[in-house]
Amino acid sequence: MALPTSYSLKSGHRIPAIGLGTWQSKPNEVRDAVCAALQAGYRHIDAAAVYGNEKEVGEGIKLSGVPREEIFLTSKLWNTHHEPEHVEEGLEQTLRDLQVDYLDLYLIHWPVSFRYSATTTQPVNPETGLVDVIDVPTKDTWAAMEKLVEKGKVRSIGVSNFTRKRIEELLTTARIPPAVNQIEAHPYLQQRDLLEWSKQQGIVITAYSPLGNNIYNLPRAVDDPTVIQIAKELGKTPAQVLISWAIQRGTSVVPKSVTPERIRSNLEVFVLPEHAFERIQALDRHQRVNFPVRMGVDVFGEVGEETARQRAVEWARQQKMLAILAVNVTQPILWLMYFLNFLDRNAMVNGKLNNLSKDLHLHGTQYSTCVSILFVGWAYLS
Ligand SMILES: NC(=O)c1ccc[n+]([C@@H]2O[C@H](COP(=O)([O-])OP(=O)(O)OC[C@H]3O[C@@H](n4cnc5c(N)ncnc54)[C@H](OP(=O)(O)O)[C@@H]3O)[C@@H](O)[C@H]2O)c1
Repeated sequence: MALPTSYSLKSGHRIPAIGLGTWQSKPNEVRDAVCAALQAGYRHIDAAAVYGNEKEVGEGIKLSGVPREEIFLTSKLWNTHHEPEHVEEGLEQTLRDLQVDYLDLYLIHWPVSFRYSATTTQPVNPETGLVDVIDVPTKDTWAAMEKLVEKGKVRSIGVSNFTRKRIEELLTTARIPPAVNQIEAHPYLQQRDLLEWSKQQGIVITAYSPLGNNIYNLPRAVDDPTVIQIAKELGKTPAQVLISWAIQRGTSVVPKSVTPERIRSNLEVFVLPEHAFERIQALDRHQRVNFPVRMGVDVFGEVGEETARQRAVEWARQQKMLAILAVNVTQPILWLMYFLNFLDRNAMVNGKLNNLSKDLHLHGTQYSTCVSILFVGWAYLS
């Protein structure tokens, strides 16, 4: 038995089993990461408008020298562009940024719609302080996605972060069924029921955050002692174990890295012996690490709408407190630095600030200019 290198989609196309993730890859890093990945043999890149780095992803593709038609390129429609009249506009921006004229796969990123905005990805309702969620029936967004296929701008369409219930509802009106559902999936959140049902439907599951990356500093699957032990026993890296496990259970998988050596080694997958596979299966604990609390919506039907809303209210309150704290701490410091501009620093008894300006290799007007820019920048942001 060998692991599949690709899966067939309902659309008639094929999706490579491994793709490079690009979330949180800084623009200055992602260009080289994409280039390194394509040169190492990746043929699948997972991008999204909201990652804010699609231009550099596009540059990486160009730089790699790999022909466009050999690459399976995925991107995602952001929540501000769900109203049917904005769907094509969202895609067009992505195509411009990626510098390509079609996508292989376009996903609805989240089953939650935000008020339209061309300038921010998180439009806030000034009255509630929460992200401005609006009601756009998914069937309407989907119908606009179907038109993109008809126009030849997108080869396959799919969804992301959708539950079985949401897909079942979508299937009642869809003319083109979703080819893919991209969901969080790793040993701590295996989503076996959704995976099995999706297989029956012919919908490919793409596993995101397969190494367990999260923004809450929770232990990652790639650092799990059992995974590390299995990797040692098999002479592999923990990441190779997790990526292989993901493919062996029938998902495509999009590990992210900006480190050339990891990018390369993450591609080296292998068949796990049954005992190792089962030990990883036993790690399931329904630990979801990608739950955007700020949306205030029970995206996965797990906590109830009221609880989800309360959590968002609490989140907004905490953000406000942090902002107030930041302003109150930085404001006096900046005022102090600003007024120090007008002092003769060479004559200052306490030489510490002098040293600071020397350490920064700034002298005279350079120091003044920098502090002024800092001050004006802060005033503008606050
Ligand atoms: N549809 C959605 O809503 C959604 C949500 C989240 C993610 N995604 C997609 O899924 C992709 C992957 O998920 P993710 O970015 O959350 O994280 P992930 O792939 O689970 O983990 C990425 C982290 O693991 C590190 N890493 C990579 N290879 C490694 C190795 N061999 N050994 C040890 N550490 C390694 C990376 O560090 P370095 O980069 O420093 O090497 C990075 O910190 C995303 O980039 C995105 O494309 C989609």
